[in-house]
Amino acid sequence: MRPSPEQLSAFKRAIWSHYHRLGRTMLWRRTRDPYRILVSEIMLQQTQVDRVLPAYTAFIEKFPNFASLAHSPVADVLRTWQGLGYNRRAVWLKRLAEIVIAKHGGRLPQDTDALRRLPGIGPGTAGAIAAFAFQKPVAFIETNIRRVYIHFFFPKVAGVPDVRILPLITATVSKQNPREWYYALMDYGAMLGLKKGMANPNRRSKNYTVQSHFEGSNRQLRGRILAALLADPSHTLPLLAQQLNAPIAKIEAAHNALRKEGLIPYD
Ligand code: ADE
Repeated sequence: MRPSPEQLSAFKRAIWSHYHRLGRTMLWRRTRDPYRILVSEIMLQQTQVDRVLPAYTAFIEKFPNFASLAHSPVADVLRTWQGLGYNRRAVWLKRLAEIVIAKHGGRLPQDTDALRRLPGIGPGTAGAIAAFAFQKPVAFIETNIRRVYIHFFFPKVAGVPDVRILPLITATVSKQNPREWYYALMDYGAMLGLKKGMANPNRRSKNYTVQSHFEGSNRQLRGRILAALLADPSHTLPLLAQQLNAPIAKIEAAHNALRKEGLIPYD
């Protein structure tokens, strides 16, 4: 669809109007500190807002800046990350802090290309940081934003690819206040996601995926192994197999994968 200027204006008005009535306040929306914004965005990549809030507070308290994170043992970082899942993100975040200290004078780069070269940062996170920390009118897409554009501009279309959405994001982003514009878009998208009786517009995205189920999964087993080892690194594999009630071969495979990803630096 090629919307007219009037349609684009009406769209922008609808997003701002919702935000002015029902915009959400979040701890990480009240700071301009690039470090804090980075931590929140990494956490929010795969974890819901209400689970991120306590973890974010604890993390910032323990590691208040790049230097403290860079200089802390990875096991401490992982312990503080517990409960968020997708623990590789914590290892990447610590490596990122080391790079920022060693190569960028302790300051997070501002442009999206430089951000994307850092560990754990994809296009969505790079764009979010550029907009939220540095007030840059970049175009980026994540799940809530995608939902909004599909809902407004691709009614009834199936398999909408992000490359068709991005020009519309570019055409509508606020030059004066990209930071709040993206808060507004995310709030609108979150509202659409909660609406009863409405099919999730993201089902019509070409990128549509659902998070794999957790109960009984390998992801769950890996989380348990990591938690046990963080509590006591001397746990042996047979002991883990017994405690977690899983076959030793499965424990061994999961343990190897954890080690390869830098989550088990003890041996
Ligand atoms: N506010 C700032 N960043 C956000 C995000 N990634 N998701 C939801 N709300 C946010």
